Amino acid sequence: PSAHVTVDPHFSIGAIRRRLFGGFVEHLGRHIYDGIYEPGHPSADADGFRTDVIELVKELGVSMIRYPGGNFVSGFRWEDSVGPVEDRARRLDLAWHSTETNEVGLHEFSSWLEKVGSDLMMAVNLGTRGTLEAIDLLEYSNIPSGTTLSQRRIDNGREEPFDVKVWCLGNEMDGPWQLGHRNAEDYGKVAARTAKGLRQLDPSIELVVCGSSSAHMPTFGEWERVVLNHTYDDVDMISCHAYYEEREGDLDSFLASAVDMDKFIETVVATADHVKAVKGSDKQIDISFDEWNVWYIERYHGVDKIEGIDNWPVAPRILEDVYSVADAVVFGNLMISLLKHADRVASASLAQLVNVIAPIMTEPGGPAWRQTTFYPFSLTSRLARGDALQLKLDAPTYRTKQYGEVPLVDAVATHDPADGASAVFLVNRSTSESIDVTVDISALGDVALQESHTLTDSDVYAKNTLDEPTRVAPQPNDTARISENALTVTLPPVSWTALALG
Ligand code: AHR
Repeated sequence: PSAHVTVDPHFSIGAIRRRLFGGFVEHLGRHIYDGIYEPGHPSADADGFRTDVIELVKELGVSMIRYPGGNFVSGFRWEDSVGPVEDRARRLDLAWHSTETNEVGLHEFSSWLEKVGSDLMMAVNLGTRGTLEAIDLLEYSNIPSGTTLSQRRIDNGREEPFDVKVWCLGNEMDGPWQLGHRNAEDYGKVAARTAKGLRQLDPSIELVVCGSSSAHMPTFGEWERVVLNHTYDDVDMISCHAYYEEREGDLDSFLASAVDMDKFIETVVATADHVKAVKGSDKQIDISFDEWNVWYIERYHGVDKIEGIDNWPVAPRILEDVYSVADAVVFGNLMISLLKHADRVASASLAQLVNVIAPIMTEPGGPAWRQTTFYPFSLTSRLARGDALQLKLDAPTYRTKQYGEVPLVDAVATHDPADGASAVFLVNRSTSESIDVTVDISALGDVALQESHTLTDSDVYAKNTLDEPTRVAPQPNDTARISENALTVTLPPVSWTALALG
């Protein structure tokens, strides 16, 4: 089979915001402890952070990092995590049935962010706490000096404000599993009150209100409408969360997961614009896709789940999914979906970063390595610059159980008007056939192929593990070539490809 793509830099979807390549660090499992922080590790720096992990996070290219949760945040008292480490409270984390030692808190995490070169996106607890505690945290973080809380920050060793620019108003408040879960009316009201209060303190911050924790929630759509009805004037973005996994051996549907993400984004945009129309507003609400990934959730509910009144481990090995080539192809396709919606997805956070459903894995006292999903993220983050482009894509289709008839190829292109650099990202969802793609690049002028990377394997379930950490990596695609204004490339079955032109 063959497919045809036309790239034209005049057809810009929108400028790609760096925040599209964000991450997410939750106090969960071995993410912080025995992940980014391991004082006894041979590579640990003076602050106890693993420098091998820092280097990998830098290579991954993550812009802004959401913190400290996730479900964790809905039981979190931020005051526990500041001040002398030896005085910090040990708390039960009800979300993950663990013990939180608070050894790493806001100051430590901020210093780690400086080492990896990323910004902080802060989530506040609107599950078991409220408006006042959120305002207190903002005062502690962003007021330079002259108040009790800003002075406490200074006394705790941080003279300059943290100057946190983006704040999430709680986490997944539509989910019955969430501590303090509310209905849309109740959450919408508390989110609006909190947003107004936070803005009274610091009008420069951007605010994200909770959307649905998946497009398959029974309240999806109505939740967004009601919540935005309460908060439209007070927030900038509404969140989307989505996780995908192969179910019951249905690889064909799994490989088409991005079709679902496309529809999710477009439905939330439509709902936000509906509220805009009803309100007669000129303001546009964008999307913060602040949790997305492949996640084998069924495994968590099976072998991983921790129970027992006397069993609250510190940093247990939970949610440590090991990703295959097929997972990485789906993952790369989810990034294509985000780029295809660059006009409305203003920010996105890969959930998560280290050990916990993560592109980076570590072994205590041992190595850190890249999962298969590391590669589509690092390459897209590095190569997708400037504008995302609307493509003309003609591709054969296939039938899936979950999504019906869908294209075998998905693609997006980017173009940076500043230096003329372009990139094309493609996936082949076929499990059996290679696809020859012709990309018409005549509108790009005289360009040469700078880089080609294809992630594929004869075993679609091949993985990188502690024993074989470099089993899977992208390879140059030797079929890619340019002649007579056309770029041709062969995409192997179940593959993700990035081509850089300039
Ligand atoms: O990323 C893991 C969990 O998924 C987060 O804590 C929660 O927000 C979501 O349900």
